[in-house]
Amino acid sequence: MSARRLHQEQPASFAYSAESKARVDREIAKYPPGRQASAVIALLWIGQEQYGWVTKPMIEAIASLLGMAYIRVLEVATFYTMFNLAPEGRHLVQVCTTTPCWLRGSDDIVAVCKKQIADTQHTISKDGKFSWMEVECLGACVNAPMLQIGRDFYEDLDGPKTEAILDAFRRGETPKPGPQNGRHSSEPIGGLTSLKETQS
Ligand code: FES
Repeated sequence: MSARRLHQEQPASFAYSAESKARVDREIAKYPPGRQASAVIALLWIGQEQYGWVTKPMIEAIASLLGMAYIRVLEVATFYTMFNLAPEGRHLVQVCTTTPCWLRGSDDIVAVCKKQIADTQHTISKDGKFSWMEVECLGACVNAPMLQIGRDFYEDLDGPKTEAILDAFRRGETPKPGPQNGRHSSEPIGGLTSLKETQS
Protein backbone atom coordinates (compact mmCIF):
# COMPACT_ATOMS: atom_id res chain seq x y z
CA MET A 1 0.00 0.00 0.00
CA SER A 2 1.31 3.44 -0.84
CA ALA A 3 1.86 6.08 1.85
CA ARG A 4 -1.33 7.69 3.05
CA ARG A 5 -1.09 11.46 3.14
CA LEU A 6 -3.55 14.28 3.58
CA HIS A 7 -5.08 15.65 0.40
CA GLN A 8 -3.26 18.61 -1.17
CA GLU A 9 -6.39 20.75 -1.27
CA GLN A 10 -7.95 21.36 2.12
CA PRO A 11 -11.00 23.33 3.24
CA ALA A 12 -10.41 26.40 5.40
CA SER A 13 -12.20 25.11 8.47
CA PHE A 14 -14.21 22.33 10.04
CA ALA A 15 -16.94 22.32 12.68
CA TYR A 16 -19.17 19.50 13.85
CA SER A 17 -22.85 20.03 13.16
CA ALA A 18 -25.18 20.13 16.19
CA GLU A 19 -26.19 16.52 15.54
CA SER A 20 -22.58 15.35 15.19
CA LYS A 21 -21.53 17.34 18.26
CA ALA A 22 -24.13 15.52 20.33
CA ARG A 23 -22.63 12.20 19.18
CA VAL A 24 -19.13 13.51 19.90
CA ASP A 25 -20.10 14.46 23.44
CA ARG A 26 -21.60 11.02 24.04
CA GLU A 27 -18.41 9.33 22.83
CA ILE A 28 -16.13 11.49 24.98
CA ALA A 29 -18.31 10.88 28.02
CA LYS A 30 -17.66 7.12 27.74
CA TYR A 31 -14.13 7.58 29.05
CA PRO A 32 -12.90 8.63 32.50
CA PRO A 33 -11.26 12.02 33.03
CA GLY A 34 -7.82 12.15 31.45
CA ARG A 35 -8.65 9.32 28.99
CA GLN A 36 -10.59 11.35 26.40
CA ALA A 37 -8.00 10.50 23.74
CA SER A 38 -9.62 7.05 23.62
CA ALA A 39 -12.45 8.67 21.66
CA VAL A 40 -10.19 9.68 18.78
CA ILE A 41 -11.33 7.00 16.32
CA ALA A 42 -15.00 7.67 17.06
CA LEU A 43 -14.52 11.41 16.53
CA LEU A 44 -12.72 10.88 13.24
CA TRP A 45 -15.52 8.55 12.13
CA ILE A 46 -18.26 11.01 13.07
CA GLY A 47 -16.36 13.75 11.23
CA GLN A 48 -16.04 11.56 8.14
CA GLU A 49 -19.72 10.62 8.22
CA GLN A 50 -20.57 14.32 8.32
CA TYR A 51 -18.08 15.67 5.79
CA GLY A 52 -17.33 12.63 3.62
CA TRP A 53 -13.57 12.59 4.19
CA VAL A 54 -11.03 13.48 6.87
CA THR A 55 -9.53 16.93 6.49
CA LYS A 56 -6.64 18.75 8.16
CA PRO A 57 -8.95 21.24 9.91
CA MET A 58 -11.00 18.27 11.18
CA ILE A 59 -7.88 16.65 12.64
CA GLU A 60 -6.92 19.95 14.26
CA ALA A 61 -10.40 20.33 15.75
CA ILE A 62 -10.32 16.78 17.15
CA ALA A 63 -6.83 17.29 18.60
CA SER A 64 -8.07 20.43 20.34
CA LEU A 65 -11.25 18.74 21.63
CA LEU A 66 -9.37 15.78 23.05
CA GLY A 67 -6.30 17.62 24.31
CA MET A 68 -4.04 15.64 21.97
CA ALA A 69 -1.07 16.68 19.88
CA TYR A 70 -2.05 17.18 16.21
CA ILE A 71 0.50 14.54 15.14
CA ARG A 72 -1.17 11.89 17.34
CA VAL A 73 -4.53 12.37 15.62
CA LEU A 74 -2.85 12.54 12.21
CA GLU A 75 -1.14 9.20 12.93
CA VAL A 76 -4.49 7.54 13.58
CA ALA A 77 -6.17 9.09 10.55
CA THR A 78 -3.39 8.06 8.18
CA PHE A 79 -2.97 4.55 9.64
CA TYR A 80 -6.52 3.25 9.29
CA THR A 81 -7.69 2.82 5.71
CA MET A 82 -11.32 3.25 6.84
CA PHE A 83 -10.59 6.97 6.92
CA ASN A 84 -10.81 8.68 3.54
CA LEU A 85 -8.10 11.29 3.13
CA ALA A 86 -9.54 12.75 -0.06
CA PRO A 87 -13.03 13.48 -1.39
CA GLU A 88 -14.96 10.39 -2.53
CA GLY A 89 -18.23 9.94 -4.39
CA ARG A 90 -21.45 10.11 -2.39
CA HIS A 91 -21.39 6.31 -2.26
CA LEU A 92 -17.95 4.78 -1.75
CA VAL A 93 -18.01 1.21 -3.08
CA GLN A 94 -15.46 -0.94 -1.25
CA VAL A 95 -14.80 -4.16 -3.13
CA CYS A 96 -13.11 -7.00 -1.27
CA THR A 97 -10.46 -8.58 -3.49
CA THR A 98 -8.75 -10.80 -0.92
CA THR A 99 -8.27 -14.45 -1.92
CA PRO A 100 -11.69 -15.99 -1.01
CA CYS A 101 -13.56 -13.17 -2.76
CA TRP A 102 -11.12 -13.23 -5.66
CA LEU A 103 -11.59 -17.00 -6.12
CA ARG A 104 -15.36 -16.44 -6.12
CA GLY A 105 -15.28 -13.74 -8.81
CA SER A 106 -14.35 -10.34 -7.38
CA ASP A 107 -12.67 -9.56 -10.72
CA ASP A 108 -16.18 -9.33 -12.22
CA ILE A 109 -17.22 -6.84 -9.53
CA VAL A 110 -14.15 -4.70 -10.12
CA ALA A 111 -14.92 -4.78 -13.87
CA VAL A 112 -18.42 -3.41 -13.18
CA CYS A 113 -16.99 -0.64 -10.99
CA LYS A 114 -14.55 0.31 -13.74
CA LYS A 115 -17.35 0.35 -16.30
CA GLN A 116 -20.02 2.12 -14.25
CA ILE A 117 -17.92 4.40 -12.02
CA ALA A 118 -14.37 5.09 -13.21
CA ASP A 119 -11.33 3.25 -14.57
CA THR A 120 -9.28 3.97 -11.49
CA GLN A 121 -9.90 3.70 -7.77
CA HIS A 122 -10.82 6.84 -5.79
CA THR A 123 -11.98 8.62 -8.93
CA ILE A 124 -15.41 10.17 -8.56
CA SER A 125 -17.94 9.17 -11.23
CA LYS A 126 -19.09 11.87 -13.62
CA ASP A 127 -22.44 12.18 -11.82
CA GLY A 128 -20.63 12.55 -8.48
CA LYS A 129 -22.53 9.64 -6.99
CA PHE A 130 -19.83 7.00 -6.74
CA SER A 131 -16.19 6.19 -6.27
CA TRP A 132 -14.73 2.76 -5.63
CA MET A 133 -11.73 1.10 -4.07
CA GLU A 134 -10.32 -2.37 -3.46
CA VAL A 135 -10.12 -3.42 0.18
CA GLU A 136 -8.78 -6.38 2.11
CA CYS A 137 -11.02 -8.99 3.76
CA LEU A 138 -14.13 -7.49 5.34
CA GLY A 139 -14.91 -10.64 7.29
CA ALA A 140 -17.79 -11.91 5.14
CA CYS A 141 -15.77 -14.52 3.21
CA VAL A 142 -18.45 -17.19 3.69
CA ASN A 143 -20.68 -15.07 1.44
CA ALA A 144 -17.96 -14.16 -1.05
CA PRO A 145 -17.68 -12.21 -3.22
CA MET A 146 -18.92 -9.09 -1.53
CA LEU A 147 -18.69 -5.32 -1.34
CA GLN A 148 -19.51 -2.63 1.19
CA ILE A 149 -21.40 0.62 0.59
CA GLY A 150 -21.80 2.89 3.60
CA ARG A 151 -22.39 0.58 6.54
CA ASP A 152 -24.01 -2.17 4.48
CA PHE A 153 -22.55 -5.39 3.08
CA TYR A 154 -23.79 -6.79 -0.26
CA GLU A 155 -22.86 -10.44 -0.57
CA ASP A 156 -23.00 -13.45 -2.90
CA LEU A 157 -22.48 -11.13 -5.85
CA ASP A 158 -21.64 -11.49 -9.50
CA GLY A 159 -21.31 -8.93 -12.28
CA PRO A 160 -25.04 -8.49 -13.10
CA LYS A 161 -26.04 -8.33 -9.41
CA THR A 162 -23.41 -5.66 -8.83
CA GLU A 163 -24.73 -3.67 -11.79
CA ALA A 164 -28.26 -3.90 -10.36
CA ILE A 165 -27.08 -2.62 -6.96
CA LEU A 166 -25.25 0.36 -8.47
CA ASP A 167 -28.25 1.14 -10.71
CA ALA A 168 -30.51 1.17 -7.66
CA PHE A 169 -28.23 3.56 -5.76
CA ARG A 170 -28.08 5.74 -8.84
CA ARG A 171 -31.89 5.96 -8.80
CA GLY A 172 -31.72 7.07 -5.16
CA GLU A 173 -32.83 3.71 -3.74
CA THR A 174 -31.07 1.68 -1.06
CA PRO A 175 -31.13 -1.99 -2.06
CA LYS A 176 -31.60 -4.58 0.67
CA PRO A 177 -28.17 -5.52 2.01
CA GLY A 178 -26.98 -9.06 2.71
CA PRO A 179 -26.86 -12.09 0.38
CA GLN A 180 -28.06 -11.29 -3.14
CA ASN A 181 -28.65 -14.90 -4.21
CA GLY A 182 -31.72 -15.59 -2.12
CA ARG A 183 -30.17 -17.46 0.74
CA HIS A 184 -30.68 -16.50 4.36
CA SER A 185 -27.55 -15.24 6.12
CA SER A 186 -24.80 -17.77 5.38
CA GLU A 187 -27.05 -20.82 5.30
CA PRO A 188 -26.76 -23.22 2.33
CA ILE A 189 -28.78 -21.91 -0.60
CA GLY A 190 -30.84 -25.08 -0.69
CA GLY A 191 -31.75 -24.80 2.97
CA LEU A 192 -30.24 -26.38 6.05
CA THR A 193 -28.42 -29.69 5.62
CA SER A 194 -27.71 -30.23 9.30
CA LEU A 195 -29.06 -29.11 12.66
CA LYS A 196 -32.55 -29.43 11.18
CA GLU A 197 -34.17 -30.82 14.29
CA THR A 198 -34.82 -28.73 17.34
CA GLN A 199 -34.66 -30.22 20.78
CA SER A 200 -37.87 -30.09 22.76
S1 FES B 1 -12.07 -12.42 1.59
FE1 FES B 1 -13.67 -11.08 1.05
S2 FES B 1 -14.77 -10.85 2.88
FE2 FES B 1 -13.10 -12.11 3.46
